[in-house]
Amino acid sequence: MITLNINGSTTRVDVAADTPLLWVLRDQLHLTGTKYGCGMGLCGACTAHLDGTPIRSCSTPVSAAVGKKIVTIEGVDRARTGQVVQEAWKKLDVVQCGYCQSGQIMSAVALLEGNRKPSDTDIDAAMAGNICRCATYVRIRAAIHQAAQ
Ligand code: FES
Repeated sequence: MITLNINGSTTRVDVAADTPLLWVLRDQLHLTGTKYGCGMGLCGACTAHLDGTPIRSCSTPVSAAVGKKIVTIEGVDRARTGQVVQEAWKKLDVVQCGYCQSGQIMSAVALLEGNRKPSDTDIDAAMAGNICRCATYVRIRAAIHQAAQ
């Protein structure tokens, strides 16, 4: 059994240590807001936080999350930054199809936690690993600026 701290709660799962965290979140814990895109750490759809750092849960073994605070899109609004980012996303109507947006929000929150007034360059650098097929990048950037106010 593996003990995990997810969104402020402790839970135990019976999985192999090398199981990708994404599948533990989705299949074992039914936290399906974290999405599967490429499975190779390339698209960002599966982004979650480990101790505040954005990680690609598809390519992170669950064993790497032991002893760390895991936050997913379901729990990101427990902190003020998560709330203001989600409010900005809604206000600016960022989402188109929506599939990548959990990961986008998780990366945006991590950015703002470390940089309260990011420049366009900072935003582009922090969000470069999150791909959006609908190309909502302009609205994402605007929402991050809004959330930073
Ligand atoms: Fe993890 Fe694409 S599904 S980076």
